[in-house]
Amino acid sequence: MNDHQPRKLIIAVDGPAGAGKSTIASRLARKLGYTNLESGAMYRALALKAIEWDISFDDEDALAKLAHNSRIQLEPTSTGNRVLLDGHDVTQRVRETDVTEGASRVSVHPRVREWMVARQQEMGAGGGIVMEGRDIGTKVFPRADVKIFLDADPVVREQRRLQQQKLSGGAAQLTAAELRLRDKRDRTRATSPLVAAPDALLLDSTSMSEDEVLQKVEELVRKKLG
Ligand code: DC
Repeated sequence: MNDHQPRKLIIAVDGPAGAGKSTIASRLARKLGYTNLESGAMYRALALKAIEWDISFDDEDALAKLAHNSRIQLEPTSTGNRVLLDGHDVTQRVRETDVTEGASRVSVHPRVREWMVARQQEMGAGGGIVMEGRDIGTKVFPRADVKIFLDADPVVREQRRLQQQKLSGGAAQLTAAELRLRDKRDRTRATSPLVAAPDALLLDSTSMSEDEVLQKVEELVRKKLG
């Protein structure tokens, strides 16, 4: 391999819903020519399959088995990840309210997480990726080259998420109260709760523009690349 090739970094972007992870991760990936992987879409795909197979979100055994018998693929596109579940395109469907709620519930189970983390580690092993989620810097890639933890004031995050839902034109929409509940579940679950890795750069996007956040992240990346 050419010694002068820039190193292909692993960049972890974690944080709660509505903090702006997706936008920052996809813009950063585009700038660097990296692949953006939305790990949450994998939990969403499993939740969808559980709905289709009539499996309870609380049945860890059945969900772990279901995961082992599933093929969940993420295909980066210019407008986000295309999500394939057993070869079928479920990109739109996994953004609907029932799946959003389900994703948060299936993700509390350690054996589900074990399967997801292993798949995510395989997907990102070669580097040149920006992976976003809740536990990327703590569990999936604890040795990631760059770790960002993006947060924002809860009221602002709720407004952003509701606005996003409006724009995407989903039929039913999560209420602010449902968003708060999902947030709480993600932060307080026993296994891999949403927390910042001790070595993550903490960014609060409440009063920062997207460009300002991106600039900070880019500074850190450039430093790593030397
Ligand atoms: O990022 P998202 O909204 O698509 O994530 C959906 C759910 O999946 C979220 O409520 C928690 C879970 N999740 C997780 O537990 N770990 C991740 N790395 C990504 C998402």
